[in-house]
Amino acid sequence: MLGDYEYKNILVDVEERIATILINRPKALNALNTEVLKELEDVFDRLERDDGVRVCILTGKGDKSFVAGADISEMRDMDPLAAISYSKLGHAVLSKIENLSKPTIAAINGFALGGGCELAMSMDIRLASKNAILGQPEVKLGVIPGFGGTQRLPRLIGPAKAKELILTGRTITADEAERIGLVNKVVGPDVLMKEARDVAKEIANAGRFAVTTAKLLMNRGLNMDLDSAMILETQSFGICFSSGEPAEGMGAFLEKKKPDFK
Ligand code: CAA
Repeated sequence: MLGDYEYKNILVDVEERIATILINRPKALNALNTEVLKELEDVFDRLERDDGVRVCILTGKGDKSFVAGADISEMRDMDPLAAISYSKLGHAVLSKIENLSKPTIAAINGFALGGGCELAMSMDIRLASKNAILGQPEVKLGVIPGFGGTQRLPRLIGPAKAKELILTGRTITADEAERIGLVNKVVGPDVLMKEARDVAKEIANAGRFAVTTAKLLMNRGLNMDLDSAMILETQSFGICFSSGEPAEGMGAFLEKKKPDFK
């Protein structure tokens, strides 16, 4: 399937059912222009359909930046209609990533600013290297976060901290991001990708139907009333028992073996 993943600004490697997607535009600190966004849209469509892929890791090329934001040189001369289209494209791509049936891990290897922080927030798990800097500095450029930041950040870390960060445009260190719940874990830059792969392997070795269903329930449930979300959980719990996975997982536990989910 590797031949399916050939892009100008993105490199993809699939190994042991784990896809690693590298945004490869280091001269612009991996900023997201329209071309990169369209390539991301395409790659995640393909990864969704690729049966050989269970988990996706996204990172940026180089040791300085994950993604330094939406592309400022592309945005500077936009009129309002062009800016709305750009925001809609960003929303479409990030929603696709958020709703991918396979879990996603952002390996934040440096700056994750503006659209870069928004991209990381559309993923399930965020690991950051010690040198990472995160934030939504858009107001300093006279705009607002336009790829979902005003909505995802308060949902993720609560409105008080989100308002402080978005209204001041201040950036924060990886350690501060971990403290406020914006990233899951901070590690040294040299072990970031190993850590991401270790988490990915753990997920890839678990029951596929169970993992997909748990992700869907958490994503959907957060936007539903609690009673309806609980009903959805109960019904989904039942459906898990038609997947064959409980027989393997619970059988292996009772026989004191490691499960082998197909
Ligand atoms: N868009 C386009 N180009 C960018 C960029 C961006 N978001 N961020 C960095 N670059 C480019 C720089 O213009 C520079 O290009 P040249 O070498 O051709 O001059 C190159 O990347 C290297 O950047 P710097 O020289 O600035 O590197 P630095 O180490 O001095 O600073 C930085 C690094 C603090 C990240 C700084 O580049 C910076 O502040 N970048 C902008 C961050 C930002 O404001 N992001 C939000 C964008 S708006 C947005 O994302 C809106 C939205 O929600 C949709």
